Order: sequence, then C-alpha cells, then structure tokens
Amino acid sequence: MNRIYIFDTTLRDGEQVPGAKLNLNEKLRIAKQLELLGVDFIEAGFPSSSRGDFEAVKAVAQAVTKPVVTGLARAVKDDIDQVYQSVKYAQKPLIHIVLGTSNVHVEQKFKKTPEQIMQMGVDAVKYAKTLLPDVQYSTEDASRSEFEYLWQTVEAVVKAGATVINIPDTVGYAVPEEFGELIRKINYRLRNMENGDKVMLSVHCHNDTGLATANSLIAVKNGANRVECTINGIGERAGNAALEEIVMGLKVRENYYQGYTEIDTKQIKNTSKMVSSLMGLDVQVNKAITGDNAFAHSSGIHQDGLLKSRQVYEIIDPQDVGIEDMELVLTARSGRHAVKNTVESMGFHDLSDDDFEQVHQKFLELADKKKEIYYHDLYYIVKNFLESKEIVPDAHTAKIYELVNYQVISSDIFPSASVKVKCGDEVVVKTSTGNGPVDALYTAIKEIVNMPVSLLEYKISSISQGEEAMGRVRIQVKFEDKTYTSSATDVDTIKASATALLNCVNQIKIENAN
Ligand code: KIV
Ligand code: ZN
Repeated sequence: MNRIYIFDTTLRDGEQVPGAKLNLNEKLRIAKQLELLGVDFIEAGFPSSSRGDFEAVKAVAQAVTKPVVTGLARAVKDDIDQVYQSVKYAQKPLIHIVLGTSNVHVEQKFKKTPEQIMQMGVDAVKYAKTLLPDVQYSTEDASRSEFEYLWQTVEAVVKAGATVINIPDTVGYAVPEEFGELIRKINYRLRNMENGDKVMLSVHCHNDTGLATANSLIAVKNGANRVECTINGIGERAGNAALEEIVMGLKVRENYYQGYTEIDTKQIKNTSKMVSSLMGLDVQVNKAITGDNAFAHSSGIHQDGLLKSRQVYEIIDPQDVGIEDMELVLTARSGRHAVKNTVESMGFHDLSDDDFEQVHQKFLELADKKKEIYYHDLYYIVKNFLESKEIVPDAHTAKIYELVNYQVISSDIFPSASVKVKCGDEVVVKTSTGNGPVDALYTAIKEIVNMPVSLLEYKISSISQGEEAMGRVRIQVKFEDKTYTSSATDVDTIKASATALLNCVNQIKIENAN
C-alpha cells in the first residue's frame, strides 16, 4: 500500500474564484481546519500578488505545525523571495515554482525559445535551493506539452534540486487513459534517474470537462504519490479536483489503487461547510460526498433497499465523512417501505395491512400535490384516518407541531415575530424579538416547543424562477449531541423557515416518544 500525500490548494487556486477572496482571519480559520482534516501540504496563497496575500501566507505558516506550508511563485527571483519571506516561519516550508512547458505557453505567453524557458526554470530552482531545501516545480500546461520537452524539463529541474515535480492539467484537457500513460512514463524515467526515487511525483488537475477526479486517480494508479486538490473542487473556471472525491475514491477502492491517505475523513463535511460559508460559494446539491443530497435517498426502490440493508445502495457510510445519518426524503416516489417505516417511527405500530394501504393511498394523493411530505403531513394523514374509523391513537403517540400562522416584522431596530402553532388540540401563540426576522421567528418557536434545540446551519436557495419562485430552506439543528436535518419549500421563505424548524422538532419528538 502506498502513502498518497494530499496537497490542498483551496487557499490559492480555490481562492482565485471570483468573489471568493478571504481576509487573513478567514484564511487562518480554514488553514487550521485543513490541519485538523490532516492534509499534508497547504498552499496558502500567491505572496507576490498582494501585500494582503503575503501577510496571509505568513500568518498560516506561523499558525499550523503539521502540514508543509507553501506559496506560489513564478520563475522569477522576486516571486521566489516573497514566497521564501512568507513561508520561512513554517515548521516545514516549501517554495512552489510554476513555469509552462507547452508550446502555447513557451511561444505565445513568454515569446521565448524552449531552451530559454528551460534555463529560466533551472535558474529559478537553483536560486530557490539557496533559500530552502524543499522546492516544488510545476510544469504548467503539462498535458498539452510535447512529451520529450516536458521530460527534459523535469530531468533538468530535478538535477537542479527540485524535490517535488508537479504535472498540471492546467486547462482540464487530459483524458484519463492518456493522462495515466503520461504519468506512467514520467514516473518510470524519474525512478530510473539518479536521486529520482527521492522526488515526489504530483498531479494537479482541472475540471473543465468534469474529469479532474478521474485524471487524478488514474495518475495515482500510474505512480503519482501526491495529488493537488481543493475542498468542494473550487478553483479556476470549472474548478480543481475535489479533495473529498480523491480521498473517498481512494478509500472506497483502496485495493484497486493500492494507496491510502492520512486524511481524517470525519472532518470532511465540517471543512466543506466552512469553506462554502466563508467563501460564499454554495455546494451543488448533488455534489459527490459534500452535496446536501449526497446521502439522501428519495426513490421508493432505493429507500426499500436501504431499509433492508444499507449496503444495498450505500458504498460510503455518511458518518465516515462526518455526516450524522443518511436522509430519507418522503416524496411521491417513496415506496411503501419508507412510508411504513416513518409511520411506525411515529408510534403507529398497530395498523393492519389494509389500513396501511389506505394511509399509503392518501400519502400518494398528497405527495402528488406537494414536493415533499413533512412529518406533520404524514402524522395527520394517519391520525385523521384512524379518527375516521373511530380509533383513538395510542396515548403515547407523539403529538406533532403544526404551523397555524405567523407574522414577522423586519426592522433595523426591532425585528419581531408572532407565531401560532398547534399541537394536538392545543394552540399556542408566542411573540419574540431577535437579531433578525428569522431569529425572532425561531426564538418564538423554540419558546413554544420548549426544547433546547440549537441551530447549526440555515441555508436558503431558490428552486424555481419568476414571480412564483419557490424558496427551499434547509436547516441543521443540534439536540442532545445529535444533529437533525430538515428542509421545507414554499413561495414564502419565512413560512418555509418556520416549517423546516417544526419538521426538525417533530423528528426529535417522534424519536424521543419511542
Ligand atoms: O493549474 C495550474 O497549472 C496551476 C499551477 C500553478 C500548478 O494552478
Ligand atoms: Zn491550477
């Protein structure tokens, strides 16, 4: 089994995304979280790009102890000096130099001959070596470079002292088979040159055609022992290879790749959330590993299979990436098994098969009209059905909270909310103030339900367009060391916010009533 090193460039390539710029404190928070996640390298910025970036790289170098810290330099003395001056405080500093090897870079970007560019690279490495022992050389646009020139460059910079060779697919041009072969050839020649076995061979793939993860993994299969990537795959244009995909891809198919990382995978979700919120970049809902729906199952066939055995449709245990549990969302596509499971979890254990069939039909009628069925919807379907048959539900059956109405006042000085909630036959009204309208709304609801739930995450997204645009609110709350996730959709986002919280409370009530 080979150790595969993880180089995180969220704070450099990731931060190049328009609008994602971080201030020094935000960079520090992410760097410390990356250290907790267990990355081997942190590329903290591009020090010569601005004074702010220089200071941020320096602060990261001083703040973390375990990972190697680096910053990016072009192959010029001033850039290299700035990287050195900012990373020299790190326990393990590294200078990262980048210079193109493809014809377009050599001829069109630099307007020089290939020999001149190679010499520039060699000189840059030699100079960097006078400052630090560890120097990385990236052959920018390697996947579009002529192979023999690329190899001669690698050979020359290794002879000049480079300790890491990084092969970038800068514009996402590579395809897995071809990229794997490129890495195999470079690895073979590198391991057969003097001191070549001590050099780390790394890859850096972009996602322009959606192949960044595939190209990175095929590179590992062909001898690369380090991968450059970012959290949530953020980065220039379509982004970089996503750290969570590389790490979990290797973990799930460890035997195939014969490689492992030392990432603490349980920190993946937390890190993803921190990066997304500090950079203001939402994660696509169906994004592998870190998307909201990555572990949510809604189709009946899948829900049925999962409830029989999780292995049927789950290759990754959500808890392994720091998610408390898989989510079964009730929709028109949910099958009998998932609906029955939820009905029973509400305490309605004694339904005959025939009764359940009728409940299921009513569930389907409602599900055809609504996007998602909430706990209280299903609860009332069952309760009304039983009452229509003059059956009184079990005394211990959890009573479910239902929103009756609400009024929220948004104001700079005094945001407030009044909420009316029904629980069984009881109707309660509360008015509260808060830091903002949603805070006031949530304070009022929490007072009504009298449960010490704390809000961990609140996310709002638009799921349709035009005047009738629907807003989806997704929240995560903590109750007694357990996390609960819930969502609600409505044209009125305040109503969706209230419903989402009541859904969570209902889940907690149901779980604790049994
Ligand atoms: O995409 C690229 O080539 C880069 C280099 C600096 C490694 O980001
Ligand atoms: Zn890049």
